[in-house]
Order: sequence, then structure tokens, then C-alpha cells
Amino acid sequence: MLAMLAVMMAVIVFTSVAHALHPPGNVETINPLTLHLEGEFMESNLGTALEPDGSVTVRLIAQQYSFVPNCLLVPAKTPVRFRLTSPDVIHGFLLVDTNVNTMIMPGFISEVRTSFARPGDYFLPCHEFCGLGHHGMWARVVVVPKEQFAKLSRTQRVGCEPG
Ligand code: CUA
Repeated sequence: MLAMLAVMMAVIVFTSVAHALHPPGNVETINPLTLHLEGEFMESNLGTALEPDGSVTVRLIAQQYSFVPNCLLVPAKTPVRFRLTSPDVIHGFLLVDTNVNTMIMPGFISEVRTSFARPGDYFLPCHEFCGLGHHGMWARVVVVPKEQFAKLSRTQRVGCEPG
């Protein structure tokens, strides 16, 4: 019995090290009633923004049953910071084929960092059951070459649609 516990413990430790798993490090709160309207997550501040150091920040609201914005544009080979929150219930944020996998909770800001090695389309499903429309809740991340992203204007960088 003790040997089985030791083996299971060892498997957890080994897989978390081997797959570089780490729990979310930041705890930030936000008023879920005023998202879209004011503060960091107001409508005009959502989407991708270029930071002075060359990295990008993507702000996103997950709500029943969609992600806003629904299609994200980010450059390849660049540090990307996602800042996420929810006005209603807990949603999930999973970027297929990357290390990004987190929950989005109302009242809190989830922050995850990653970078994309090559351009392409990434599927972003909500993977936390959030209600009847859960299975239809997903978004897309379009990763473009770094040089192409640099040529875009501030409004074009915000999302996939030409601004
Ligand atoms: Cu949102 Cu499931």
C-alpha cells in the first residue's frame, strides 16, 4: 500500500517536471459586473496589444457561450501574455499543442504566458463545462510571422479582421 502511494507520488512529480507543469502564479481580482464597460477589460481594450518591450498582451473575456474577441492574432517567436476573465461562470482556456491550459474565473484575472514557435492556426476550446452551450464555445488563434505582425497598424493588430 505504501509502495503504491510512493509510486503514484513519483509519477506525479516526474510528469509535472517532465511536462513543465506549474500552477498559475498570480492572484488578481476584478469586478465582474463592469467588464466590457470600464477598466482593463473594456471593449476597446480587448484583443492583442504590442508592449514597448516587443512582447504582446492579449486581453480576452470568456462568457456564456463565446470568447470575446473570437479570433486572436499574435506574432510567432514572441512572448505572449494572455489576460483572461469572465463575467458569469468558470470557463476553460486550452491552447491545443501548447503548454497553455487554465481556468477562467469570474472576479479574477487569469494570466498565462507562452510563445508560438511557428505561424499557424490554433484551436482554442472552452474545456470547463459552463452550461448548455459549452460544446459550442471556442475561439481561434492565428499566429502570423513576426515580420508580418510588425507591419500592421495598432488597430489591425487587435484581432483577425482587418481594422
Ligand atoms: Cu465556457 Cu465551457
